[in-house]
Amino acid sequence: MKTQRVLTGITTSGTPHLGNYVGAIRPTVRASRLDNVESFYFLADYHALIKTSGDPARVQRSTLEIAATWLACGLDPEKVTFYRQSDIPEIPELTWMLTCVTGKGLLNRAHAYKASVDKNTEAGAEPDDGVTAGLFMYPVLMAADILMFNAHQVPVGRDQIQHIEMARDMASSFNHLYGEHFTLPEAVIEEQVATLPGLDGRKMSKSYDNTIPLFVPREQLRKLIMGIVTDSRAPGEPKATEGSALFQLYQAFASADETAALAKAYAEGIAWGEAKQRLFERLDREIAPLREVYDALIQDPARIEQTLRMGAEKARAIATPFTQRLRHAVGLRPLDRQAAPSGGPAKAAKAALPAFKQYREKDGQFYFKLTDAKGAVLLQSRGFAAPRDAAQAMARLQREGSVALDAMAQQLIAPDDVEGVTIALKALREAGA
Ligand code: TRP
Repeated sequence: MKTQRVLTGITTSGTPHLGNYVGAIRPTVRASRLDNVESFYFLADYHALIKTSGDPARVQRSTLEIAATWLACGLDPEKVTFYRQSDIPEIPELTWMLTCVTGKGLLNRAHAYKASVDKNTEAGAEPDDGVTAGLFMYPVLMAADILMFNAHQVPVGRDQIQHIEMARDMASSFNHLYGEHFTLPEAVIEEQVATLPGLDGRKMSKSYDNTIPLFVPREQLRKLIMGIVTDSRAPGEPKATEGSALFQLYQAFASADETAALAKAYAEGIAWGEAKQRLFERLDREIAPLREVYDALIQDPARIEQTLRMGAEKARAIATPFTQRLRHAVGLRPLDRQAAPSGGPAKAAKAALPAFKQYREKDGQFYFKLTDAKGAVLLQSRGFAAPRDAAQAMARLQREGSVALDAMAQQLIAPDDVEGVTIALKALREAGA
């Protein structure tokens, strides 16, 4: 089965709570361990600026907390690409390229923007009152996140489906104008995922202010759980599991057997205080080991910073050459380079072309190869310690062609067919790939 690229972003504007953990973090970390997926997870801190303008400390704190949370919950930064959006300058660059192929009318129809306009209209204010251009452009930035890495699948909440559809629209418009550069992404909605109730029994959500933060100290977690709303049934009176927030929370963490045992205790009239204590113990059993890692990470921001930089390098090994290709495709080109052959850029890009492929070997080093249109290897690199070095070598070959071969002799295995390499590099340049 072909490897699927899965990508998702987390806006860095809050503190992760139990609902995020059960609904997103836990299932996503599990899915990232599967073999046939290549996962990209990033901290959407550019997006956070839209929601938190004027609160820089909150953006920084939230970025730290969310990064520490994902790592503590078992995300393996060696296996996945885990990075911070603002470390990838190619993202805002792609945002602009997409902006220029996106109808303003498409953005007018975005739910989040429309909701603001509707609210203003109802209040008798100007339609765009208090609406930043950032909020309006939100879907384009999000499309750039996704299209930059040609993700096939984008796991998101229901409220984000429209954004994925818009990203598809933008990808199609771009491909139509400039050739097939982008994969059309699909939203993946986890139907099973439980939405957890919050302290007041409504859905756990920042906007209801009813959340239980995932990583509070043990005693604070106990206190919060003791504050969950229940009905007024006294100890000894049978209690209903249906509609009990306490029960639903328990179920999200417990095995089927444990859940059945609590249901039985409910029927037998367990006191609310005791039920809460059981919930607390069960939650803490799962969270305590993660909390320990989390606390250590939070104490050591330099380590997280280091991890994110490594992730950014991996991400940019893809983003930098791809953006180079896109720049060429739209006409942002060095002036001494030949324009695409007549017949149109779209046609040229669709024809079979040689290609660079980058990969990592078991030795941990980064390699690339150049293959001809049929996939035969023309040129093979030696190992690079960092993906960025490999990307730079590829970029140099693309820029300078086979004249660079001599100077790069130490980075490459000497090709058998220098002429084939020359022709392939020339074809790539001419196609603007
Ligand atoms: N908008 C998403 C949210 O609020 C976060 C996000 C930003 C995202 N860029 C993304 C999600 C790209 C998936 C893909 O949940």
